[in-house]
Amino acid sequence: MQSVAQQIAALKKQKNAIILAHNYTLPEVQDLADFVGDSLSLSKKAAATDADIIVFCGVSFMGETAKILSPGKKVLLPEPEAKCAMAAMCSAEQIRQVRAKYPDAAVVGYVNTAAETKTEVDYCCTSANALNVVNAVPNDQIIFVPDSNLGRYVREKSGKDVILWSGFCPVHQCVTLRQVQELRAAHPDAEVVAHPECRLEVLEMASFVGSTEAILNYCIASDRKEFIVLTEWGMGHRLEKACPGKKFYFTNQSLCMTMKMISPESVLECLEKETGEIVLDRDVQEKAYVPVKRMTDILG
Ligand code: 13P
Ligand code: SF4
Repeated sequence: MQSVAQQIAALKKQKNAIILAHNYTLPEVQDLADFVGDSLSLSKKAAATDADIIVFCGVSFMGETAKILSPGKKVLLPEPEAKCAMAAMCSAEQIRQVRAKYPDAAVVGYVNTAAETKTEVDYCCTSANALNVVNAVPNDQIIFVPDSNLGRYVREKSGKDVILWSGFCPVHQCVTLRQVQELRAAHPDAEVVAHPECRLEVLEMASFVGSTEAILNYCIASDRKEFIVLTEWGMGHRLEKACPGKKFYFTNQSLCMTMKMISPESVLECLEKETGEIVLDRDVQEKAYVPVKRMTDILG
């Protein structure tokens, strides 16, 4: 009897499939993936692969972004109901309304949005290149959707007139100053690193702010041995694998439950039966491609 991992490996070969996994997925899912990374690196990998099937272990907007970039490929989600709570906080119709209020502004949309919402956005960005995208936009005024924390962060850094939306990530929003202070008291030698979806007062406690992949690269390069990591707990697995001997501390609440829906068994079933296929309306596909392509062209 073959193990789940062996069955997945055999099916992948037979079907010319690739498995992509976000840094927040369960350790056992990350371990069976061909590539693990942040939203930007996963998008680029999806665009570049010559596999026929992409099994996307992440929340649904990530798989949709892969499909937008690779319309000719079959993109499968092991858990199609695994959604990002923040992505539901901004609709295409809401963007049309806010545009009417600020006709000279460009709309920069965080990649954590539905494909339909992306059709109304001028530029997409991820946490890895949000600042570069905002700086590259020729307009002085920018409507940044949906993450108010990331929007506030890029406003501070760019000095541009960034109009904020009211969205947030429930996981990062819940990181409090008190929690960080407690972690610092318990681990006085640890350096604080944070994801820009955290609130500004929390980001001010960090000596490094960046995407999940940027946090990883920072911790690899740093001489420090201990880190307080203000992002989702799944990052611990990647950090520990990449940095043997270093220690990483997280707040207890930092769990993205929808990311955790994906299991090796759901990956196997999805690959076997080719379930959870992403199908986008052609109009949505074509319109959303423009801001998403700009996102991958502007580096982090
Ligand atoms: P990254 O792009 O940094 O991996 O972040 C994605 C995300 O959903 C953070 O909550
Ligand atoms: Fe969405 Fe937050 Fe989960 Fe990231 S951690 S996928 S922003 S709910």
